[in-house]
Parts: sequence; structure tokens; C-alpha cells
Amino acid sequence: MTDSPEASAAWSAIEQYESPRIERLFEADPGRLKRLSVEVAGMTFDWSKTHLGPVLLKDIAGLAGAMDFETRRRGLFAGEVVNPSEGRSATHVAERGQGAAHDNELAANFRMRMRQLIDAIEAEAFGPVEAVLHIGIGGSALGPALAVDALGRDSTRVQLRTVANIDGEAMDEAVRGLNPETTLIVVVSKSFTTTETLTNMDAALEWLEGAGVEDATGKIIAVTANPDKALEAGVDETRILPFADSVGGRYSLWSAVGVSIALALGWDAYEAMLEGAAEMDRHFRLAPLGENAPFVAAASDLFYVHNRGSEARAVFAYDERLRLLVPYLQQLIMESNGKSVTLDGQPLGRPSAPVIWGGVGTDAQHAVFQLLHQGSLVMPIEFVAVIENEDSQDPRQHRQLLLNAFAQGAALMTGRENKEDAARHYPGDRPSVTILLERLDARTLGALIAFYEHRTFTEAALLGINPFDQFGVELGKDMARAIDDPEARAGFDPSTRALIEKAGL
Ligand code: F6P
Repeated sequence: MTDSPEASAAWSAIEQYESPRIERLFEADPGRLKRLSVEVAGMTFDWSKTHLGPVLLKDIAGLAGAMDFETRRRGLFAGEVVNPSEGRSATHVAERGQGAAHDNELAANFRMRMRQLIDAIEAEAFGPVEAVLHIGIGGSALGPALAVDALGRDSTRVQLRTVANIDGEAMDEAVRGLNPETTLIVVVSKSFTTTETLTNMDAALEWLEGAGVEDATGKIIAVTANPDKALEAGVDETRILPFADSVGGRYSLWSAVGVSIALALGWDAYEAMLEGAAEMDRHFRLAPLGENAPFVAAASDLFYVHNRGSEARAVFAYDERLRLLVPYLQQLIMESNGKSVTLDGQPLGRPSAPVIWGGVGTDAQHAVFQLLHQGSLVMPIEFVAVIENEDSQDPRQHRQLLLNAFAQGAALMTGRENKEDAARHYPGDRPSVTILLERLDARTLGALIAFYEHRTFTEAALLGINPFDQFGVELGKDMARAIDDPEARAGFDPSTRALIEKAGL
């Protein structure tokens, strides 16, 4: 796709924009903090420590106009085909009741079915259930794992274990200490053809049978958009929870994929997550661009990739409960926007998604922050922290945690000059964004995840790419199948054949 003259002009303005140091921006504009902060859904977003300013935001709004951003956003909520390469809509917003009427209704029907099954489980139709072994990979596991790890630490409901990798070590670890008699197996796969998940389902069945559990298959619940495949795999229809094909894997925790969340945290918590996400949907749909959290975030992201050449972005959660946020975001952002072609299949001709990485503060400060403060690679950093302290430890610990997060952002921005000793010189002017949650509850977590979804969508819209397909992973899947076929192996390169031989495969 060649850029329209409007898009071309907007891109040039963004690429050539020259910003003063961030500290100078504060000096020049006393209203900067307010202008570059947004409060929504129990969270404060602060972009004042980035190079964003009114001119740049106007240029990026110009790009949004040129790229028909508002039409694409309307299409997302209206259930239009926003995923042209697969000819379908993307209806995760309908799971939160924010999509087109027929999509909302379909989602509500599927949710009712899920609720009935949960009621049956809680009424001990499967006998007493103490644990759920959630089997799935990528989007079929990362969301439930994040939500339950973040919110379920004090839960007295069922214990959730997740297993994704085809590595038997992962399965061993997942079932360690569980009682097979009281463990329910939830197999989640949108396609129900994923090798890892089906192999792990067999391993779980063997584990149950090996322990003498009667009717092991009867302990399996399948969650899928392809119920026929689950039936073929031997799961009874009454234990299949379908969801719409238009819900992408990495957007699927809002659908029946969330059954493990509802079992581990309770139905109310699951609904509160949906409500929080719906609040962010409304904000994204209605707030003016300059006050629209996902849009401003995307504007900042775009600036650093396309003006500063920062093809990396780091996220640090200053809260142990959010330690799984980064892996979740890696799939969401890199699988969605790691593309090189436009919506109409033309070469994109500019970078798309940066590498997303990060970790947990303060651990990361003592491991990787050297590069952030003084390294040659400059990238935007995101701090996610929670004001309310819910651990049972001395409140001084939480206080120190937050102070550390804020100190890092300040240090990155101001730096510290040392004219005598270059090794002890901190250049500063390194951008960071802070997302401060009032508390970490189901509603806020739902809103936070939806914020990241819409930010990712916005970036795709501004680039003119499709965030809802993932053909990039298909080649690797094909090759993984072919490599197991002795005839096809002959066509592999010498290095790969030598590795197979060395490993005796
Ligand atoms: O291979 C990538 C992928 O298709 C992801 O998009 C998806 O979340 C994951 O694999 C699991 O797929 P499924 O839910 O169909 O098992």
C-alpha cells in the first residue's frame, strides 16, 4: 500500500519531529503533567515523562485521520470484517457486551452455557473438585494464568494449574501434588488441533487412568471454537464449551476460555473483569483522541519506533501479582502486530511491532536496568504499579516498592551529569510511562488488559496492518510436522539433519 498524500505528510512530520529534552518540556509547560495524564477505570496513566507534546499528538492524530482510524475503530465495535486475511470480524468486545447486538447475544448465550456447567461443577456433578488442570497454549493459557496468578493468591476455591509446553517436565510440574480424583481437566484450544494441547490432554488422561480414576474422559472439559474436533477427540457434547470463531486466541480470556478464571476466582470476579474491560471499551470508543488512553499510548509507542528507531519496549510490573503480565503482553503485541505487510497485502515498508520484554521490579533493577540507564539502546519503559497494599507484610515494603518504581522513572528522565568520569555519567532524557492502579482487583485488571488490546489495535490501525491474523506461526508448525517424517527430512538443510542425527531422533 503506498501512503496517501495525507498519510505521507503525517509520517514525515512524525519521523522528522525534533523534541527538546523531556525536562525542558516540563519547564516550558506547567500544565504538562495534567495534559499528558489520563484517569480511567481506577488507573492513572502518565505520559508526561515521554517526548509527547501537543504538536506531536496533533501529527499523530493527523495520521489517524489519514489512516481512517475512526472508521476502523467503529468497524471493530460494529462486528465488521476487521480481519480481512481470514475474512472475519474480531468480537472480543462482544464478550464484554460492547459489540454488535447479534455478537453480544451469541457471547451471552455461550456464557450462559458456561455458567450452567460451572454451577454443575460447584454442585459436585463431577464429585468434589479441588484443582483444575488447565491445558492450553498461547492465548489459550496466558490470560487465565495471568488473571488467576494476579487475583487468586488468597482464594480458597479450586487451585488452578496451567500447562502449555509439550515438554513432559511442564506436565510433571503441573500435576505435582495434585489428587487425580479431585482434579478436573480443562482443555482449551480454539482450533482443537494444536499438537501441544492434544498431546498434553493425552498425558493428563494417562495420569488420571494411571491413578485408577474411573471414567477419566468424563473429567475433561473442552473449550473450543471447533466443537466437532473436541467431539472427535472423545469429549462428550455436554462437556464442550464453545466460543465464537471470531474471538481470536490472544483475545479469548473473555470467552468460555475464562472458565478456569471463574472456577478459581468465582463468577463475580470473572464478571467484574468483563465489566472493567467494558469500561475501557467505552472509554476507547468515546474519549477524544488526546484524552484516550489507548490512543495516547499508541501515539507514544509509534513515536519511539518511527522517530527514534527504538524497536524495543520494556514493561516492568512493580507488583509481584503482575509477574505474568509481560508474557501475556508479548503474545498480545508481538503476535498481533509483528507483521510486514499491510491490510491489502502490500509490503509495509516501515517497522511494525517492537520487541516487548520486561520483568518485575525491583528485581529487574538489579539485573537489567544498567542497560536502560546507560546502554546504547534507548527505548520507552513502562512502569505498572499498584497503590493499595494487600500483602500481609510490613507496609514499609510496599512503600519501598512504589518509591523504587517512581525513582527509576525520574532517574531515567533526569540522568546525572559527570564531566570527570564518563563511566559514571547518566545521560538521562530516557522516556518512561507510568500506569498506576488504585488497587489490583478483577475490574481494574480487566480494564488494564482491555487497554493493552485497544492500544495494540490502534497501533495496527495507524500502520495499516491486520492485528488479528498470525500466519507467521504456521510455517514453524508445518516444519515441525515435516521434520518428523523421514522422507521429508531429506529435504532439510545439513545443519538441521546433523542436529537430528546427533540427538538420535
Ligand atoms: O500458534 C499460535 C496460536 O495459534 C496462537 O494464536 C494461539 O493462541 C495458540 O496458537 C493456541 O491455539 P489454539 O487455541 O488453537 O490451541
